[in-house]
Amino acid sequence: MKTVKGALIYEGKAKKLFEADRSDHVIHYFKDDATAFNAQKRGTIVEKGVVNNKVSERLFRLLQEGGVPTHFVDRLSDREMLTRRVRIIPLEVVVRNIVAGSLAKRLGLKEGDRIEPPLVEFYYKNDSLGDPLITDEHIRLLNVAEPTVVAEVKQWTLRVNTLLTPFFRDRGMVLVDFKLEFGFDSQGKVVLADEISPDTCRLWDQKTGESMDKDRFRKDLGRIEEAYQEVLKRVCGT
Ligand code: C5P
Repeated sequence: MKTVKGALIYEGKAKKLFEADRSDHVIHYFKDDATAFNAQKRGTIVEKGVVNNKVSERLFRLLQEGGVPTHFVDRLSDREMLTRRVRIIPLEVVVRNIVAGSLAKRLGLKEGDRIEPPLVEFYYKNDSLGDPLITDEHIRLLNVAEPTVVAEVKQWTLRVNTLLTPFFRDRGMVLVDFKLEFGFDSQGKVVLADEISPDTCRLWDQKTGESMDKDRFRKDLGRIEEAYQEVLKRVCGT
């Protein structure tokens, strides 16, 4: 059955969200627009939307097979994905296996050092505040989510890490860290939402240690499109 795209609900930095002609469903359209540093840096990564849509599909399917509840329903086209409609919990949940990015900067740790067991961090999803790092107690203070929900989100996040780490390793990539978002479905169940892609993961080539993700855009490393296409090839085989 063909899903028909309805009215635009919302336009974000990397995606547009449309109504779908099925209740409790929405259509995500993946754009090529790239932003970094709380949208202070802007640009375009050609065909990024296609890569992120296809990579997300593959990873959501893998996670669903591994028992993780997700919003993913189907990929409709190169740039469109059908998902269940969820109420997003305003938290960005970051898992770190290796020191990099803001962790190295904030705590003065050495980039590339292994983190064992993996570190889970929560950031408050709030553009005007610049998505600050927050603790469990801040989450309670802000009334962002119940402690039981936070515990469940953390458990699913670690399960996702356990499933994704060997998947990337088998394809010659090191999963350094990544960001997840969760929401409540219409039954009030916690489900994994948003996307999982080179925009939201740090991936290093196992052999060369080269970045294969959005860090190439953030740090002006060049060959950005080439890196995204290589991730697509390794993840989806196309
Ligand atoms: O910048 P930082 O080191 O905190 O990022 C950790 C991980 O979370 C990286 O993989 C990054 O791509 C991802 N992230 C994201 N969206 C943000 C912030 C971080 O996808 N707003």
